[in-house]
Order: sequence, then C-alpha cells, then structure tokens
Amino acid sequence: MPNKLKAGVIGLGILGQQHAEFLSNHPTVDVVAVSDLRQSAAEQVAAKLGAAAFTNYDEMFKQHQFDFVVVATPDHLHRAPTLAAIAAGVPNILQEKPLATSLADADAIYNAVERAGTRFFIDFANRAVPTDIATRYVIQNGLLGRMVYGEARLDDNISVPTQMWGARTKDFAAGSSTAHFLLSHVVDLLRWYFAPAEVTDVYAISQQTVLGYTPDLYDAFLTFNSGLKVRVKAEWIKHMDQLVEFYLGFSGSEGTLIYNKAPGFGVERGWRANLSAKLSADALLQHQATLLELGANVAAKVHRPAPTAGTLAAGGGETALALEHTGEVAGGTMALVGPIIDSILESTPTPASWQQRGPLPNHIDGLRQAQIVMAIIESSQTGQPVSLK
Ligand SMILES: NC(=O)c1ccc[n+]([C@@H]2O[C@H](COP(=O)([O-])OP(=O)(O)OC[C@H]3O[C@@H](n4cnc5c(N)ncnc54)[C@H](O)[C@@H]3O)[C@@H](O)[C@H]2O)c1
Repeated sequence: MPNKLKAGVIGLGILGQQHAEFLSNHPTVDVVAVSDLRQSAAEQVAAKLGAAAFTNYDEMFKQHQFDFVVVATPDHLHRAPTLAAIAAGVPNILQEKPLATSLADADAIYNAVERAGTRFFIDFANRAVPTDIATRYVIQNGLLGRMVYGEARLDDNISVPTQMWGARTKDFAAGSSTAHFLLSHVVDLLRWYFAPAEVTDVYAISQQTVLGYTPDLYDAFLTFNSGLKVRVKAEWIKHMDQLVEFYLGFSGSEGTLIYNKAPGFGVERGWRANLSAKLSADALLQHQATLLELGANVAAKVHRPAPTAGTLAAGGGETALALEHTGEVAGGTMALVGPIIDSILESTPTPASWQQRGPLPNHIDGLRQAQIVMAIIESSQTGQPVSLK
C-alpha cells in the first residue's frame, strides 16, 4: 500500500463535495481527480482541492489510477459509476447508500464486487454514531432481554423532495423514494443492531397523494427470524420545522430502549435504556465503562422509577438500572469514512479504530438492504406480505 491513497470522487453534489473535502483533509489521502456531469461542479471542486476535473468518469479512469474511489451520484444512478470503477480495477470503493434502487442494479453491483474481489463499503454512516453503537451494544449484550418489538420512524421535511437539490430535486426524488433514501438507513441499522437476526417477512403500505412524482411515505412491518417484529416508517410530506425527525424505540422481554435521535416538536434529543432487573450494579458499571471507551457518554443510573399501578398497589417500587446518554452526540455524514480508510490502510475488515462496533457495512449489507427495501415497495404495491429468502 502506498504512503498516501490516491483517491477520486464521482458525483459532486451535496454529499460528494463533503467526501472530496473530507478526503483532501485526511493525512493519508490525496484526491487526484474528481468527476461530475456538471462541468462547473467538477471544476470548482477540482480547483479548490488541486485535483483534475472530469465530466466523464470513463475518461478519468483512462487517465488516472486510483487506490480508492467514492461514488456519490443520486440514488438511482449508482450502478454505472460503481461498475466502471470496478472495471477500471479500483481496489477500494465507498459507495453512497442505498446500494441501488432496483434488484437488477443491486445484483449487478454485488456480483461485480464478488468477481473482482473489490473491497467495497457502503456509507451507512449511522453505524458510526455513538448512541447507535450504544443501541447495538445493549441489544447484543442481552441487557434488554430477548428482543420482542420495535418502532423506527425517520421523516424528512417536505422541502427535501420538493426543494433540497434545487433544479435537480424532482429528478432525484422521482428516481428514489422514502424507502430507498430513508428506510435504507433504518433497515441497515436494524440488521446491524440485531445481527445475526435477518428479516424474513415484510408487509407494507404507502400513500401517493401529495407529491405525485414519488411516493409520499412507506409504513412497514418487518419480521425477523428471531421472532422480533419492527415497524418502520418514513415520510416525505411532513410540514414540520425540523429538516429531519428520527425516533427509535425497542422493547425486550426485560427492558426498553427509547432513542430520540433527531427530535420533533416538543421532544428532546435523548437516549435511555431501562435495563434488565437481572443485571447487578457492578455489571452496570462495567457496561458503562465499555460504552465510554466506545465513545458513548452514558451515565449509569440506579433509581426508583415513577410508580406504576403494580408498585402503587404493593406500596413502593424496587430500584431499577438504566443507562442514559448525556451531552452532545458526535457523528455526521462523514463519520464512517475515517474507519473505512483505516480498514484499507490496515488491510482488515475491522481496523483498530472500529473494534467492538460490529462489521463495517459492505456489499452484502448493501444487497440485503436493497432486498428488504424492494420487498417493502412490492408489498405496498400488491397489498400482500412478501417473504425474503
Ligand atoms: N450516507 C448518508 O448519510 C447520506 C446522506 C445524504 C445523502 N446520501 C446519498 O448520497 C448520494 C448523493 O446525494 P446528494 O444529496 O449529494 O445528491 P446530489 O444530487 O446533490 O449530487 C449528485 C451529483 O452526482 C452528479 N452526477 C449524476 N450523474 C453523474 C455521472 N454519470 N457522472 C458524474 N456525476 C454525476 C450530479 O450532477 C450531482 O452533482 C445519494 O445516493 C444519497 O442518498 C447519503
């Protein structure tokens, strides 16, 4: 591996520009060339970063060799540039989510990665957020008991599908949907939190009343082979003050997790896990110490919960254990890119910076995410449940 990775970026819109800047500020990366169909975008980014500008990525691959390429084209336009990068022999690729917006595209990318032996990552950046790492941790360590039910709602302001990409907005939204754009994140998080459980059955509804060129929303029930059932919902027609609202809640047989990740009106950001009564106070402190090491600033709580009907009848409540996040939550769209660069440089799927956080998302995760999202869309269209193999 060379001292510095020679990198390229294809697609220089909102995310691609962030990728190009992040890479160019990274001490072990040189951005040598960038490409966008819009010449002005390619030239502006290239001039800022001292890279070569292209409007045609095939030409870029003819003139440059890369160690690492990021693909950040719109959702429905991932296949062609990713396949071109693989065909050009690029050994490491980070592609934006979702993997694709059709099963044919998803299969084509997956098969090309397998055939070429490319190290392929997909940017499910929520996996790098400390409160998501903590969510995975409490579930994986059985601190909520056996997982039974969950609910995840991820909604965008209506300005996203109507205005966010300027003149590009309608094409972007029409080529995507809340299922591809938003539920891809949710589905990946669920597979990562609850691994090795996999989704086996999907039932979904949608509405197509307001926007016209793309569905207004999807609302789906996912059943996992562990027995877990999770409702997932994503809207694009919300007239709200925030850009994004994101709520997750999970009930286990012995505990409950409440996670207001991006809160809406009247709700505060927060992450709180009410843990199994089987846990000792010592074990609670050990888990807290591990989570602090993993970057999640959680407080350990031994408290007497507000009285329930049962404890009132019994004349007083037992103490209970909880973990609660305090302070700001780090993360952001580029949070996974550092560990991905470490993975490339250390030539391992789990670099030192990513220990105890589960795997980095790869083409298998991308394919599974696309299959689940396509099942949600199919079920909403047919009105029938869809089984996944
Ligand atoms: N990981 C995350 O958290 C996250 C967050 C937001 C968006 N995204 C994803 O990032 C991707 C890009 O989103 P965006 O908001 O930057 O979109 P965008 O429309 O702002 O940018 C896409 C760019 O790709 C360019 N493009 C299209 N076809 C091309 C081609 N053949 N060759 C070169 N350039 C081409 C467009 O001109 C545009 O500049 C999407 O898949 C989106 O879902 C990921």
